[in-house]
Amino acid sequence: MVRLKTREHASLSSFIQGNFKQSLGKRIDSLNINNTFENTITKRRDQARRSILVQVYSLNSQDDLQSYCIQFGDVLSMHHYQKNKQHNYILVEFKDIVSVNKIISSASFMDGDFVAPVKSSVFWFRKGKFVCHKRNSEKKIFLSTENGCICPTEKEIANFLQNAKSISGQIIDLYEALKLNDLETRLRFHTAYHLEQYFSRLFQNTKVLPFGSSLNGFGRKRCDLDLVLLPDNIEENNAASRLVFHTKPMKLSERHETREFMEILASTMQHFIPGVCNVRKILEARVPIIKFLYEYTNIECDLSTTNMAAVYMCELLYLYGEIDWRVRPLVTAIRKWAKNQEITSDVPGPWITNFSLSLLVLFYLQQKNILPSLRVLKTYATSDDIRCTENGIDCTFLRNLEKLPPEYKYKSNQDNLESLLHGFFDYISTFDFHTKGICIREGVPIRKPSRSALHITNPLETTLNVCKNVNIYELNRITEKAHDAIYILETTDNSRNSNWGLAALLNMKNIDIMNMIKLNNKKEENTTNSLEEIHEISEVNEVDINQPKKKKKKKETV
Ligand code: GTP
Ligand code: MG
Repeated sequence: MVRLKTREHASLSSFIQGNFKQSLGKRIDSLNINNTFENTITKRRDQARRSILVQVYSLNSQDDLQSYCIQFGDVLSMHHYQKNKQHNYILVEFKDIVSVNKIISSASFMDGDFVAPVKSSVFWFRKGKFVCHKRNSEKKIFLSTENGCICPTEKEIANFLQNAKSISGQIIDLYEALKLNDLETRLRFHTAYHLEQYFSRLFQNTKVLPFGSSLNGFGRKRCDLDLVLLPDNIEENNAASRLVFHTKPMKLSERHETREFMEILASTMQHFIPGVCNVRKILEARVPIIKFLYEYTNIECDLSTTNMAAVYMCELLYLYGEIDWRVRPLVTAIRKWAKNQEITSDVPGPWITNFSLSLLVLFYLQQKNILPSLRVLKTYATSDDIRCTENGIDCTFLRNLEKLPPEYKYKSNQDNLESLLHGFFDYISTFDFHTKGICIREGVPIRKPSRSALHITNPLETTLNVCKNVNIYELNRITEKAHDAIYILETTDNSRNSNWGLAALLNMKNIDIMNMIKLNNKKEENTTNSLEEIHEISEVNEVDINQPKKKKKKKETV
């Protein structure tokens, strides 16, 4: 019988409690120098290189697979997950890459139909023609995770929110349940490395990096995976060599060349890379991308090329998440609220994106003196922090948070998450978006430099507005929903109602708010004031004549 170190499918509450203990620990050492973004990437990429992904018939194949793998080298860990509740996979981590190379060399192709014969670190584990005899000396590797990629349903989320002791507790529970776990992160790096294995056969020294919410700490389970293909300049130019390769010039800084290059990549991916399916090209956008589904993990991916600015942006958001433990739970709760209220959507349109919404939350936390401005992070940058993108964007800012002066590390503001959540809704529902813009770089509101409804300055390229797409109707909806949220938070009662606090906020519908107000009015003596509130809320909920197309319904559970 397989024994587990952790069971992801164990009761959700114990799962959350366990994770929460870890996060309490993290509060204490959250400024740990080893947690730098670059260190994290290096560690995870190395882990991906030392790992293979094996599709097995069932979990019972684990022992057999282990016996097979250890013929090639020491196995450090094994992680199991299921796709669509039927396909079983085990991610096997070896101690060193030599073992992986050996196992790849020893593997064979499928008999029968002609296939594109390209080797990688993804395999089937077929029924053994040669039985792997268990050696007595063989140490049993217990699965680190069984069924490690489950996603809580809305009902499960509602249940554990109901049992939390406070709204702050609910926010932490939600964050712990939705954040990417170790296996999910390993699989995201595995996906990047899988592509890299193929691309590096076409082009020397290329690497594929994950970025976006999968890496910045704001990602939730099943969020898309943003990937970027980059030149990897690790190989020094050998000046002593008399022989120089004949090559073709590639000007990826020029738009049409990038598009042509991506056309080729997309076709190659569709036809030759196993696991890649449903490839779509969006090449006319400011940042051209190839969208595809990675079927071994069921993750939607967006691949771009030479987009280092987005990677540094991801690093900046990661850094803000590391500065204070309240940042990530708060951003998660607000992103979830926005998703449930259809303020954000998986499809592009004139509404705010998760990325811009996260910047809005970071800006609010700057107003609360919890986060420093980017200007401060730039002021304390050292020579190790100098970074510049391929097209000259200066992305220099302090990376080592230990070097941040104490006044930014040890904050006087100790507000709990509930009060910050309330404060956020209060802030955005009263902010003068008409004349002012949001600027993370300065950390204070600025005079609005554009005619867009909503202006949030791109922190790294200050001439750009990341919310140029947002129209006035969508902006008004955000502020209306924030008003409604304040009402819910102020009237929520956990002693009488199972749908209280954050749960009420996530589930709120206009009709619920109207009913709640009516209910409260009956109970309160002072009817005059309450009627004024009804009037206010029904006014803000009126449909604008410019009401846009409906957002597409989400397919995910979370
Ligand atoms: P979700 O995928 O919705 O979970 O959030 P995300 O933060 O990953 O956003 P998204 O996938 O839309 O974008 C991926 C990354 O690209 C972001 O984290 C940013 O670093 C960057 N990005 C997204 N939108 C913009 C934008 O409008 N301007 C700039 N400069 N970068 C952007
Ligand atoms: Mg993303």
